[in-house]
Amino acid sequence: MNRVAVVIGAARGIGAATTRLLAEAGWSVMAVDRGSDDPRLPYALGSARMLGELAAEAGSAAHPVVARIADTCDEPGLAAAVGEAEARFGGVDAVITAAGVIAGGVPLWEMPAVEVDAVLDVDLRGVVVAARVGIPALLRRPEPRAGRFLAVSSTAASRGLPMLAAYGAAKAGVTGLVRGLAAELRGTGITANSVSPGSTATPILDESARLYGLDGAEVFARQHTIERLIRPEEVAGALVWLAGPAGAAVTGVDLPVDGGLAL
Ligand SMILES: NC(=O)c1ccc[n+]([C@@H]2O[C@H](COP(=O)([O-])OP(=O)(O)OC[C@H]3O[C@@H](n4cnc5c(N)ncnc54)[C@H](O)[C@@H]3O)[C@@H](O)[C@H]2O)c1
Repeated sequence: MNRVAVVIGAARGIGAATTRLLAEAGWSVMAVDRGSDDPRLPYALGSARMLGELAAEAGSAAHPVVARIADTCDEPGLAAAVGEAEARFGGVDAVITAAGVIAGGVPLWEMPAVEVDAVLDVDLRGVVVAARVGIPALLRRPEPRAGRFLAVSSTAASRGLPMLAAYGAAKAGVTGLVRGLAAELRGTGITANSVSPGSTATPILDESARLYGLDGAEVFARQHTIERLIRPEEVAGALVWLAGPAGAAVTGVDLPVDGGLAL
């Protein structure tokens, strides 16, 4: 059977790597991203051009990757993208959200309120919206289902990371959300899980380095017992494994892909 995924936050980083791996594994993918900067934040996000190039590179005639601009916080806009995936591909088997932003660099009480709102909005409410519009599509598949709702949380959910308290709060919200969803999805054939990366070499990590006043992100490698940064493909590999048949008995968990950061 042709498996279909909606990947949110797909323009670059972990979402782009996940889209590529899914396409290689024979999935059809609706690749979604806001494709523009968030005016509440000082750093650049993925662009519409990056998303279009990913779709052209990663897709094939047999296993297309279709690019769609939508903001994960915009429920009708995201629902339209999910609906388009169902119309084009005949249904949806996995909703994988990697969309995320970071802000901080000062204690919570010194953060501009607009940045706190942006982090809670995209990193928590955006995942809630993805679940609210994505899970009904997974449930529209006929039984027996093998649906997957997957979100990207962070080590910041389980460790107290200074200067990133709002980000940690949003990410801890994601792990709580996924546990609740897994319970709500009892008996449906659909699982819900999150993956928590450690420091992964993507633009959000460069922004973290800037927030900590560091020269570059490479220094974060010292916090891992593997003594290197994680590659986005390594986080994507865990997501694709969870999306596939081997992940069927895993639900309600947060899987660390953190190079030993949480030890
Ligand atoms: N890179 C790391 O070290 C690290 C560690 C832990 C967790 N994470 C999480 O991994 C996920 C992927 O991040 P990444 O490392 O690939 O960073 P990234 O900045 O390269 O990618 C994030 C993508 O999300 C998109 N996005 C942002 N806001 C959006 C919105 N409102 N709607 C739709 N798309 C939106 C961006 O345009 C971008 O393409 C994020 O949730 C991030 O918090 C990353």
